[in-house]
Amino acid sequence: MELKVFDSFNGVLPPLTPLQEEILRLKKERNAVILAHNYQSAEIQRVADYLGDSLGLSYLAEAEKNADVIVFCGVHFMAEVAKIVNPAKKVLLPVLEAGCSLADSCNAEELAAVKAANPDLYVVAYINCSAAVKALADVICTSGNAKRIVEQVPEDREILFVPDQNLGSWVASQTHRKIKLWPGSCYAHVMFSVEQIEEARAQYPGAPVLAHPECVESVRACADLVCSTEKMVNYCKESPADTFIIVTETNMIHRLRAQVPGKHFVAGPTARCACNECRFMKMNTLERLRDCLRDLSPEIILDENLRQTAHAPLKRMLDWSK
Ligand code: 13P
Ligand code: SF4
Repeated sequence: MELKVFDSFNGVLPPLTPLQEEILRLKKERNAVILAHNYQSAEIQRVADYLGDSLGLSYLAEAEKNADVIVFCGVHFMAEVAKIVNPAKKVLLPVLEAGCSLADSCNAEELAAVKAANPDLYVVAYINCSAAVKALADVICTSGNAKRIVEQVPEDREILFVPDQNLGSWVASQTHRKIKLWPGSCYAHVMFSVEQIEEARAQYPGAPVLAHPECVESVRACADLVCSTEKMVNYCKESPADTFIIVTETNMIHRLRAQVPGKHFVAGPTARCACNECRFMKMNTLERLRDCLRDLSPEIILDENLRQTAHAPLKRMLDWSK
């Protein structure tokens, strides 16, 4: 199996291309801020004002006061969160069709029916879901705070965790809470297998394996650390190891290369290839980002009632994880 290994940029980032310079010029003209998820391409990460995981970017979107426009380089539910927490801003997503298979695995009508049949359930919704699903939840969580959020759910309530069964079962294993799981999963993260990871370990003995909690249980069990993408950055900075096997979406490695000097990163292998890219995250390109800043479109528009209903469980999350 051929593995992809990436070295740190050691502070020397590739020079900007003319298209990247055009984006930065337009960004200034529009008084825009670019927030990019860790799974965006290296070219997009290079022009972003902020990079982060879903949790960090939610706080940044909520706190943004100076810009007129937020351009969210990520997928639809993330840009929707930015609009929910900051309704006065124009929120743009370069490609409106950039969705998420995990978010799609839970639809609001089905969840409403489950809630109607089980009115005592306390619904914890992973942030990877639509605004309509958020509006039905009691509290939202991300992979970065899921354990902390679940621990604060009133003890006398039975928890339904939607839509990711893998993150949900990981949280159950980290807490004493019994959790009912919605049968959803991320098509990209479930592709990792123990066999491939053990092969990678054999090629890089001593390299810690860092896995995202959206991976299946057997993969999580063989990892040295299960955590959100943001925590991976801190771990790689602080660990004495010099090589790491990163079991999540491959573009995560660009952030690590840019911000963790002197180290090496092995893209977590899957059965079919040595890389693993999210097809939705990949829809955003520099060209689409440039067009979106130029045209101030596509824009996230939300019904105000829905926005307010979805805001309550999101606000609860932001308050509970401070
Ligand atoms: P983070 O919670 O680390 O941002 O990862 C979530 C994810 O899978 C984005 O789709
Ligand atoms: Fe959704 Fe998976 Fe892509 Fe994340 S990596 S946006 S969970 S499909």
